[in-house]
Amino acid sequence: MVAARLAFEGISKAFPGVRALSDVSFEVRPGEIHALLGENGAGKSTLLRILSGVFRPTEGDVKVDGVVQTLRKPEDARRAGIAMIHQELQQVPHLTVAQNMFLGHSLKRLGGLLVDRREQERRAAEALAMIDPTIDPAAPISTLKVAQRQVVEIARALLDKAKIIAMDEPTSSLTPSEFDRLAEVIVRLAASGVSIIYVSHKMDEVFRVCERATVMRDGKVVGMGVDLRTTAQRDVIAMMVGRELLLEEHHSHATAAVCLEARNLTTHRVRDVSFTLRKGKSWGWRAWSAPAAPNSCGRSPGPTG
Ligand SMILES: Nc1ncnc2c1ncn2[C@@H]1O[C@H](COP(=O)(O)OP(=O)(O)OP(=O)(O)O)[C@@H](O)[C@H]1O
Ligand SMILES: [Mg+2]
Repeated sequence: MVAARLAFEGISKAFPGVRALSDVSFEVRPGEIHALLGENGAGKSTLLRILSGVFRPTEGDVKVDGVVQTLRKPEDARRAGIAMIHQELQQVPHLTVAQNMFLGHSLKRLGGLLVDRREQERRAAEALAMIDPTIDPAAPISTLKVAQRQVVEIARALLDKAKIIAMDEPTSSLTPSEFDRLAEVIVRLAASGVSIIYVSHKMDEVFRVCERATVMRDGKVVGMGVDLRTTAQRDVIAMMVGRELLLEEHHSHATAAVCLEARNLTTHRVRDVSFTLRKGKSWGWRAWSAPAAPNSCGRSPGPTG
């Protein structure tokens, strides 16, 4: 049994009128890439905000290497070796790469009178060299692409000697080849012992880079330590939505009249979905808890997520 690098123990968080998290417990091992999955509003970002000292939990503890952490502000999390890469990068466009990496804790010289730009750039270059040596620490951050700016955030986490890096939907604005590059960086970081918590709605990416997952629904953990190498995507999605995805074609009805047809539907949740619903049978989602969808053209084929 590997000792946990990070443990959430019985975390609950209530906002006025909303219970965002209820008794959330799970562990992340050293050097593990751990997915945190769930539908919109499941509580993923709230949990990461607790981890990064932005929110305080109503109940429960966060432990790093077995020690309970008091995370009252982001600086506490930084000191505990926790870094957060946000979807919306919090960088100052007119500052250089190195200045952004040292934002809030610049290196000083002449008894604290001046910022030591040269030393900042040297250390920034050192951290960047581990992941992308092509990035110039002296370049204004606004001249970099989003993917490179994300790499700068990761390098900043390395400067802080982060042991845990949480990424909340890091690839939402990246192209597939930029994702490939980020995936390479993440895998390399994990191999060096850094634990990564990876939040994404893109299942293909999750299954490519992550080893295990915690699945959340309505603020609760519904799947703990799910092994992504041995679990099918559809089973993970079923856990997330609380329903089984049932694709069953009833050939006996293949000649029945078409009453609903969808071609290449894409939303933020599904990609390129096509189906034909014929009179007398359904082809679609069926709830775990609810009875099978009614077999009638005049009614809905069942919940569609
Ligand atoms: N500051 C807040 N005040 C009140 N309610 C909040 C606050 N932040 C989050 N919530 C609520 O807590 C619940 C969990 O939200 P959260 O943003 O953590 O979900 P999520 O899993 O990150 O969703 P998404 O995938 O859409 O990013 C939601 O019901 C949300 O409306
Ligand atoms: Mg979120």
